[in-house]
Amino acid sequence: MNIPTPLFIKLIILSVFLFIIGSFAQGQGQGQEQDKDTSKNTSNEKTEKIEKKQTQKQQKKASDIWGKDYFPNIELTTHNGEKVKFFDDLIKGKVVAINFIFTSCQDICPAETARLKKVADILGDRMGKDIFFYSISIDPDRDTPEVLKNYAKKFNIGAGWTFLTGDKEEIRLLRKKLGLYITDISEAERTLSDHNVNLIIGNQALGRWVKRSPFENPYVIANQMGNWLQNWKQVRKKRNRYENAPALRQISEGEMKFRNMCTACHVISGGIAKIPSTKQVGPDLFGVVERRDPAWLTRWLIEPDKMLAEKDPIAIALKEKYQVVMPNLSLSPKNTENIIQYIANETQRLKTVAEKRNKTTSKNILTK
Ligand code: HEC
Repeated sequence: MNIPTPLFIKLIILSVFLFIIGSFAQGQGQGQEQDKDTSKNTSNEKTEKIEKKQTQKQQKKASDIWGKDYFPNIELTTHNGEKVKFFDDLIKGKVVAINFIFTSCQDICPAETARLKKVADILGDRMGKDIFFYSISIDPDRDTPEVLKNYAKKFNIGAGWTFLTGDKEEIRLLRKKLGLYITDISEAERTLSDHNVNLIIGNQALGRWVKRSPFENPYVIANQMGNWLQNWKQVRKKRNRYENAPALRQISEGEMKFRNMCTACHVISGGIAKIPSTKQVGPDLFGVVERRDPAWLTRWLIEPDKMLAEKDPIAIALKEKYQVVMPNLSLSPKNTENIIQYIANETQRLKTVAEKRNKTTSKNILTK
């Protein structure tokens, strides 16, 4: 049926329609005004809600992108002979560290495993609870579950760390997907040692993945896995109280002055304190208090320039040896005394350290 509608009916329908839209828009405006009038709390709550929704959305998205469709759900065999699926069983919803190894590797992999073991030790009982390590073999022909089991044993690997083997091609695909595959070497030239020693750590649920070197500071990696990748949720439940904070070591006046005025050019090491091997401008002051006459030393600290001008034989000899001359730092007699005391104490402390070290090494030799 196609009855022609008269024009005026059309106009009435149109105006009713416009009226409805108009009042709706007005209502919205009033609503906003009201929101402004009521306390700021509601708007804060609103923003919080929106932000929460957005993060949920982002999380969902990230985990979707880095989800089942991205990671191949290949079958692998654990060092205990169990069959597992890479996505479903190993990484889904977990915080993980993944690296690729081969047990016949002589150079880098053992060091890599040893370094990761440090990270695992730092993470302690969280291993296998909310953090998991996977070392996947790129030499599955040789690395049977049994071989992997022995390897894990050799490194004293505990809970939460699984060694895996599987189909060579599928593992290669996995390496590519994880970005742990060196692509600039042709297949013909490729040997096992060319494998990428990087490590990837991630939280599948958050879709957050980062490549790391296993040779980084193990505490840094442990912190990234234990806190950052978990959105800091696990951060210390028990807060330390300030009263219980350990007292800082008292730094003497002499040490303070030495740090401020002397460390630019001097160390006190005697080869005992570990000091970065950059060349020092001035001599190592270890034992200088015993080496030099006390009066000479005191005067040297106060006016080295005068002593040099007077052609003091030690000053001359020192000047010939070093390029720079020791500056006159306008030290007061009190500060000079404090600094000399500090150099003497520090020398003594290092000697004790060296003695202790010698004792333990000679013990080791004896027990060998
Ligand atoms: C700008 C670099 C510089 C600073 C800063 C400096 N020194 Fe020196 N110091 C030297 C050099 C270089 C020598 C070697 C002698 C020379 O060439 O004058 C030296 C020599 C010495 C010696 C003699 C070492 C020996 O074997 O007999 C002592 C002791 C000494 N400095 C102590 C200090 C103390 C303590 C301070 C801080 C208060 C200080 N110096 C700050 C550069 C410096």
